[in-house]
Amino acid sequence: MPEGVHRHPIVFVAYGDTVYAIKELPRRYALVEFDVLLALEEHTHRSAQAAGLVERVWVDQHSEQSAAVITTYVRHAFPYRDLIADAGFGPRREQMVDALAGLLVELHLAGCYWGDCSLSNVLCRYDASAIEAIMIDAETSAIHDELSAGQRREDLAIMIENVAGEMGDIAAAAGNDIDGADLWLGADIAERYGLLWAELNVELIIRKDQGYKARQRVSRLNELGFSVGSVELEPTEGGDRVKLTVEVGGRMFHSQRLRELSGISASENQAQFILNDLNTFIPTAETSGLGKSLAAIKWRLGSFEPCITWIDQNWHGSDPIQGFCDFLQFRRAMAESRGADVPNEEALTAWADSGFPGFPTESDDR
Ligand SMILES: Nc1ncnc2c1ncn2[C@@H]1O[C@H](COP(=O)(O)OP(=O)(O)O)[C@@H](O)[C@H]1O
Ligand SMILES: [Mg+2]
Repeated sequence: MPEGVHRHPIVFVAYGDTVYAIKELPRRYALVEFDVLLALEEHTHRSAQAAGLVERVWVDQHSEQSAAVITTYVRHAFPYRDLIADAGFGPRREQMVDALAGLLVELHLAGCYWGDCSLSNVLCRYDASAIEAIMIDAETSAIHDELSAGQRREDLAIMIENVAGEMGDIAAAAGNDIDGADLWLGADIAERYGLLWAELNVELIIRKDQGYKARQRVSRLNELGFSVGSVELEPTEGGDRVKLTVEVGGRMFHSQRLRELSGISASENQAQFILNDLNTFIPTAETSGLGKSLAAIKWRLGSFEPCITWIDQNWHGSDPIQGFCDFLQFRRAMAESRGADVPNEEALTAWADSGFPGFPTESDDR
């Protein structure tokens, strides 16, 4: 099992079809971590899932052996160090900035103060053209109804310091001096966080006949992947305008939609990508006239499943859903250059012949 940097003893145990990570730690921290991870489950898909808590009440509560938190092993994930090229993230830097910023925003929206955000305390996972960061260490965290601006600032300051330390260590390990380290990474994450937070929390005052602006706002939030809870229109003092308040939920809009329609579990960006395929499959001659859910089943059986079976047998990566997204991206480029749709079988063979290219990273775009 790939392991990151950590302080507490961790063992991975297979039980039935599932693998669990068991982390021994002093009782006080174990209780905090277990409660926080459990509370986060309904708000985000980007935290480790708590599966159990072991308390050895007869052991001194400060001892490392006094408790253990059991979490479900995060599948297809890997430590950030796997993405390090030389002294930094190279072409994947932007993706990491987005991943950490997005994760912190989502946790803060859920009222979670992390208290120890760092690269070592997340696991990474490919998510279509992005990278997803998943929180695994919540020993120092706390859940509040809402975080104050001060609490959010403090959490960001901790992250900036932790990340700078980690990038310093990476540079040292590569034999570079500290000037060669990417010490601005944390500050860039905080800046990206600020932009996203501002967009999600913008206060909109609209005229009473501008309901379309409320719908636009909800669509924009959904486009960013965030699900939307209640939408409230509150009269302002003048009377002719209303204040729009939107309850922003977790970043799971497309993954929920895909699961409802097809039963497929995917990360948020993967789901957005796959939904595009599903939605464009629906109006073909074969399926026209079918309801959307029947067409989704047809798509799953006739297009998705055969591709996944092929990917399982031929592709080298660990997450077949990511393989499918890589393939969709390849097939789209092939269709664009040909000016016509390409059948799956032909596109799969061409994808393999080209060495299974994935999504371009920053450096390929230039
Ligand atoms: N649920 C999990 N799935 C996969 N790996 C895990 C899981 N929990 C922990 N790990 C691995 O163990 C390492 C340390 O976990 P962490 O909770 O940060 O422990 P510590 O408190 O000792 O720092 C992580 O970097 C990760 O590689
Ligand atoms: Mg840790």
